Amino acid sequence: MLVVSLAPAADGAKYASALGVVTSMSQARPLNVGLIGLGTVGSQIAERMLTWGPQLSRRAGVELCLQKVLVRDVTKRRTIDISPDLLTADPDAILDDPRVEVVMEVAGGDEPMRSYIERAIQAGKHVITANKVVMAKHGPELLDQAAEKNVDVYFEAAVGGGIPLISTFRTDLQANRIESVSAVINGTTNYVLGRMAAAGLSMADAVREAQDAGYAEADPTEDVGGYDATYKLAILASIAYEIKVRPDEIYREGIQGIEPVDFRYARELGYAIKLVAHTQRHTGRVEARVHPAMISLDHPLARVEGAENAVFVEGDLVGKVLLMGQGAGGRPTASAVVGDLIDLARSIRRGVQSRPSFSFDDRIGVVPIGEVKTRAYYRIRVDDRPGVLAAIGQVFAEEGVSISSFIQKDAWSHDMTAELVVTTHPSLDASLQKARERMERLEPVHAVSSFLRVF
Ligand code: NAP
Ligand code: HSE
Repeated sequence: MLVVSLAPAADGAKYASALGVVTSMSQARPLNVGLIGLGTVGSQIAERMLTWGPQLSRRAGVELCLQKVLVRDVTKRRTIDISPDLLTADPDAILDDPRVEVVMEVAGGDEPMRSYIERAIQAGKHVITANKVVMAKHGPELLDQAAEKNVDVYFEAAVGGGIPLISTFRTDLQANRIESVSAVINGTTNYVLGRMAAAGLSMADAVREAQDAGYAEADPTEDVGGYDATYKLAILASIAYEIKVRPDEIYREGIQGIEPVDFRYARELGYAIKLVAHTQRHTGRVEARVHPAMISLDHPLARVEGAENAVFVEGDLVGKVLLMGQGAGGRPTASAVVGDLIDLARSIRRGVQSRPSFSFDDRIGVVPIGEVKTRAYYRIRVDDRPGVLAAIGQVFAEEGVSISSFIQKDAWSHDMTAELVVTTHPSLDASLQKARERMERLEPVHAVSSFLRVF
């Protein structure tokens, strides 16, 4: 039946329906949505819902009504045009309102957001969240609770901003056994590493530039330290293998130790340097690690530029799949959240859960990093005198690490030192670390200035 909707259905809906809408919707009651957070992402969600309501509602098959928006400070000046009547600082106004059927959480952080999401589920409300911290730490439990209450939890925006990742795993790749997922999944670090590589900037200068460009936070620790990528990998690995992978089980290293000279050497050897998040299936266990890595210039992840993200998946049936796009930003992230809302609204309208729910196996653990086999790159500052190469070669030999290339790079006559670059064949990470520690104790070695895994 064709419906011309001009009248507001509820408080917030007057903005959504102000333009009028010609749709093929049935005369179902509107779907009332509570939004938690009106910052970078929330503002874009609210704006889309308030200015593009008719189109969204037509696609959803039901009128989508923004009922209330929870913020910390209702008096704060907002970047979008929104009625003050929609704003509240009282979480109960959303969580205890029986008219609200869907809670969209885009505030961020662990508590109180985990509790709000749990309360929403227990009250029989569906949840859509962009919160990677909550989903990485508590996702499996929240999804189990949601299954018990027969509601859904959508979290497309928690990983990779606007890139359709979760829905791809949840639907399109369901016929596959996922073998591995490798990703450049933190835009800030990719921007920083890109600027160090292209312009020779120091890390501090590149981070400052990323902050000025609006990519990096005032405190960039979460990104630079690899925490953000670890949360995202925990979510991806959990859904890829349907096991519980916790962020604290993932080996994590940030990009702090990398110096501009490493980019020059990497390029000469045919590599780019990226912060890589990688997980791989092993018999009965999975590998999961986040660290900077040298990555062959032929690999698609080596070509991810600026603040973009890319996720490279290998499934046993589909083969290799590359998903790439804007991994952050208000608009791309709002695209994912509002896309989830439309999918959820369609399911509710049809009275079915259109997507399979997850069941998480507890018995499969993560391989400790020491047992992972990988290649490595070492940059070593040494005295430039006879016998040094032999001493270093002996350490590698005794640790069972096979050298792939051994090159003397820059030498400094003023202090008779030189820089050696060693790359290895695949070896146990524990042996690579042992070799590093032992070299640092050798008398002619000033420092192992850089250690990077080669992907
Ligand atoms: P943001 O700009 O800092 O906005 C946070 C919003 O949440 C603000 O409106 C704030 O209210 C509100 N808020 C925070 N704590 C609250 C509390 N305890 N009670 C009520 N309201 C609260 O954050 P954002 O960048 O939009 O990110 C939101 C979420 O999306 C995070 O989980 C983030 O990880 C995720 N995400 C963000 C991006 C991105 O590019 N920004 C990309 C992907 C995912 P006030 O406005 O009153 O302060
Ligand atoms: N800080 C993240 C990044 C975006 O730089 O990729 C939010 O997930």
